[in-house]
Amino acid sequence: MKVTIIGAGNVGSTCAEVIATQAIASEVVLLDIKEGFAEGKALDMMQTSTTIGFGTKIIGTTGDYSKTSDSDVVVITSGIPRKPGMTREELIGINAGIVKTVSENVLKHSPNTIIVVVSNPMDTMTYLALKSTGLPKNRVIGMGGALDSSRFKTYLSQALDRPANDIHGMVIGGHGDTTMIPLTRLATYNGLPISDLISEEELGNVASSTMVGGATLTKLLGTSAWYAPGASVAFLVKSILNDEKRIIPCSVFLDGEYNQDDICIGVPCIIGKNGCEKIINLNLNDQESQRYNAGVNLNYTLFDGLGRRFTYKILKEQFALSELQLRETIETTILQLYSVYFNVAQLKESTEIFKQALAVSIERQRRAESAFSYGQSNKLAVLNAQDDVTNDSISLLQINQQLDNARRDLNLLLNEPMDQQFQVETIVN
Ligand code: LAC
Repeated sequence: MKVTIIGAGNVGSTCAEVIATQAIASEVVLLDIKEGFAEGKALDMMQTSTTIGFGTKIIGTTGDYSKTSDSDVVVITSGIPRKPGMTREELIGINAGIVKTVSENVLKHSPNTIIVVVSNPMDTMTYLALKSTGLPKNRVIGMGGALDSSRFKTYLSQALDRPANDIHGMVIGGHGDTTMIPLTRLATYNGLPISDLISEEELGNVASSTMVGGATLTKLLGTSAWYAPGASVAFLVKSILNDEKRIIPCSVFLDGEYNQDDICIGVPCIIGKNGCEKIINLNLNDQESQRYNAGVNLNYTLFDGLGRRFTYKILKEQFALSELQLRETIETTILQLYSVYFNVAQLKESTEIFKQALAVSIERQRRAESAFSYGQSNKLAVLNAQDDVTNDSISLLQINQQLDNARRDLNLLLNEPMDQQFQVETIVN
């Protein structure tokens, strides 16, 4: 069995190591765009094979997708990780372009593969990979729930002072600090409901620690975590390659399940050789359903279904763009714009604000001198990204190319006649 991992950064290389040491696949290809980086990681790991004792062949390549041909599973970890204080969602502007291009390249060489998306914001990137490849929904799986659940079980084991391996529990919903739902009510210790064993307050603390589990590590480490993320991907890949049919919460496309559609978000899935073979419909209580729907709505409004549909409508109606112009600009431009006003939209959570924010962003873009202009924020993004270039699978050149593309698209958009001026108060401080 062959697994390709795109991105030889911390998460990608940890994942390769776990796959090799646990004999999950016979061949692992690590691909990165940074010259020699994946080759170096692969060689270093191969030199542990005799001491650790594994037989998996690990190959590294700088951007040569032909080496990834006929992979059974491809894991996408490329993009930049978050820094302390950042949300996963703030990475969308840069990571969206990378994930889209990578997914398309992957599919050319491995048309039958199953894609596992790890790049953040993971739910949105899964949706993007699914839409840009056109693969059936069972073959594009976002890895977040396995990681969040392993953090949940670790915190539960600490609260109970019992071994984590005796604990079962799941986290569903979004892979975001405010959108994930640790299912405390359903967690068990060898079949005993944990809600009978520890206080409600302790359970609440476990849930809160789980939700900010990634942020806690980012603060401690100065960058995103990798041991648990890498191992969680390997766990998911193992269930696919061995056709284990484990129940693992994953971000998959919902088509009516949980009363949602046109969105990728975490639900318990049966994971086997065909990817997500079945979505398990849990009987959520009112409180859990409410939180689930709130998470879905946040993702919808900001990124996927409603966000995109809503933005489309506004652009079409208020800026009188043609269908073609809309199609050409909407994917990259809107994804870039999201990164500018995400915080506002997250705070206000309202489509009215969403509309105003869009108007403000576009209006400000027209006046490029504005302090919060799109250009400014892109410059910041480049500066932030510069630090990450050495550790991760993105080159400055690639970032600049993306930003240039986005600017070009935005200019195309803004050169269109606007038949009304916006008198919107400043809503971004
Ligand atoms: C985390 C990243 C991988 O939660 O999203 O650590």
